[in-house]
Amino acid sequence: MNGQGKTFYITTPIYYPSDKLHIGHSYCTVATDVMARYKRMQGFDVLFLTGTDEHGQKIEQKAEAAGVTPQQYVDQVVAGIKELWKLLNISNDRFIRTTDGYHQESVQKIFKALYDKGHIYKGAYKGKYCTPCESFWTESQLKDGKCPDCGREVVDAEEEAYFFKLSAFADRLVKLYEENPLFMEPQSRLNEMVNNFIKPGLEDLCVSRTSFKWGIPVTFDPKHVVYVWVDALSNYITALGYGNEQYHDFEKYWPADVHFVGKEIMRFHTIIWPAMLMALDLPLPKKVYGHGWLLLEGGKMSKSKGNVVDPVVLVERYGVDAIRYFLLREFPFGSDGLFSNESLITRINADLANDLGNLVSRSVAMVGKYFDGTLPAERQTEPLDDEVTSIAKSLKQKYEAQMEAFAFQNALIEIFKLVSRTNKYIDETAPWVLAKNEANRPRLASVLYNLLECVRIAGILLTPFMPSTAPKIFEQIGADEGITGYESAGTYGLLPANVTVHKGEGLFPRIDMAKELATLGASKEKAAEKAPKQEKKSAPVKKEQPVEGVASLITIDDFAKVQLRVAKVTACEPVPKADKLLRLQLDDGSGTPRQVVSGIHPWYEPDVLTGKKVIVVANLKPAKLRGVESNGMILAADAGENEVKVVFVDNSVPCGSVVR
Ligand code: MSP
Repeated sequence: MNGQGKTFYITTPIYYPSDKLHIGHSYCTVATDVMARYKRMQGFDVLFLTGTDEHGQKIEQKAEAAGVTPQQYVDQVVAGIKELWKLLNISNDRFIRTTDGYHQESVQKIFKALYDKGHIYKGAYKGKYCTPCESFWTESQLKDGKCPDCGREVVDAEEEAYFFKLSAFADRLVKLYEENPLFMEPQSRLNEMVNNFIKPGLEDLCVSRTSFKWGIPVTFDPKHVVYVWVDALSNYITALGYGNEQYHDFEKYWPADVHFVGKEIMRFHTIIWPAMLMALDLPLPKKVYGHGWLLLEGGKMSKSKGNVVDPVVLVERYGVDAIRYFLLREFPFGSDGLFSNESLITRINADLANDLGNLVSRSVAMVGKYFDGTLPAERQTEPLDDEVTSIAKSLKQKYEAQMEAFAFQNALIEIFKLVSRTNKYIDETAPWVLAKNEANRPRLASVLYNLLECVRIAGILLTPFMPSTAPKIFEQIGADEGITGYESAGTYGLLPANVTVHKGEGLFPRIDMAKELATLGASKEKAAEKAPKQEKKSAPVKKEQPVEGVASLITIDDFAKVQLRVAKVTACEPVPKADKLLRLQLDDGSGTPRQVVSGIHPWYEPDVLTGKKVIVVANLKPAKLRGVESNGMILAADAGENEVKVVFVDNSVPCGSVVR
């Protein structure tokens, strides 16, 4: 196994407990969780750390406004954050709070060590301070006189303070980036750091404050508290026991394999943090990955902008795995992405309900229907099987290449290539046609076995993304634990020849987009009514622009989602009290009669249609027309103004044949 005997230490940023966390915050933690689960699955000894960053003036002010102590304030918010991670199925091994005693003790030691080694000196701080960001800025760093990170007002600040000699590390930092081009990713971030921060000249960093109390006191000068970023960044080593007795695995896990962080805090992680570690003579993290932001209606989600999306609501409505999947499938990890309810629902319906969910339920249902749930051992393979089985056989390798590059989106695309191809294989092999002839049993068994194997392999590789769905898939296809580990995804044919399936619940129910958007719209309006006036005012007015033209072109994969089949009209009659409608009974080769309602009565009398073969859209959502259920639609051409012609198929084509 790749990871046997090796460690993998991965971290998320530690979160400010100042606001309720939104889906943007969840993005990084879900990505980290997927990576941690993937590495565990590979046999690595993983340490996944997350936590909360609880000090600073902003917290002190919030607590004061709420009439509680800062500690009471953070305790309450942190409890909510922990609940959220539980809800999102986050498998962190440790949770650090910067108010934990052991962390505070270590930070004090770190500060003192830096001072003793001459990297910290006492001076006077004059400059600008962005209170919401807890960031000091020099005049030259401001953008239009405002905070370059968040664009908000800064205030003048001057006080006695300690400084970290960051300027002394500029050359070593440049050397680090040159010698380790993969130290920070994606590559675009490197130029940003060098051009914006290193080239203009690194200035020494103010690392203590005296104007508020809610921080870790400097032991040798207690009216100072340690700058919140020095406090926060240290968490990555204090949580391993550096400078404390709480844990004892610093030697084992440090240096970190990767810090996942949002792009706006790259600066802290690729300049200040390595410089601090250099000053402490400690090894540097192997990689810092700066992911993009989830944007909403023209801006980054933030409580103060009033444009946040609540992950709890999303999980409650759609289920945790659908949300986890969406976050990592919809957006490339290194880039910004626009969140919308439409894109979420489209993804769930197209990929999860239609592609994956259908594949699992159809495969299992057919083994139930044609073989009473247990496949016979006889087989008959055909060259038609080769393409789908070879995709399945090479999937693990392709997936791994993407996962190693943190390209979650591409890894999922690879898995879903197999899922779509397997669905197409069902149409190509038409098991319901094979099932009509006893002599085809070995062939039918081969086809169904291939379906189950492809599902098994896809299921294994989906496990880190969908930790609660994967076991349900394995249960349904009869794959026991011995053949659902990571290595098993690399071997085709591990399910027993006479495997028994277990029909289960549908994995992902389809969502009615129109209804859902209406419900979400209503609750959004309600929330807006409740929101404080001030927040409403600062909400961005810029609307998401429709992307014109894109929707009119589809890919071959989109087309493959429409299942077209040949069917024979076995009976046909008018729908009472509906001039235009005919009720058709169809034999679509599945063995179950299919009823379709069609608005073609103005052009066709029922007896003309009976006995004819037509093309039916077989995977259309059922609908009721004048109270009569319709399962699909038959194809017809607009043959001129007020003229419709049904597409008839030659009578020699068997019912159930796929049209593509
Ligand atoms: N406390 C600091 C991190 C200290 S790490 C030593 C912090 N906290 S935060 O709560 O403001 O942000 C935590 C993470 O959430 C950051 O990586 C930030 O980029 C990420 N996100 C916050 N909003 C986001 C989006 N809308 N989209 C994606 N990630 C976002 O920064």
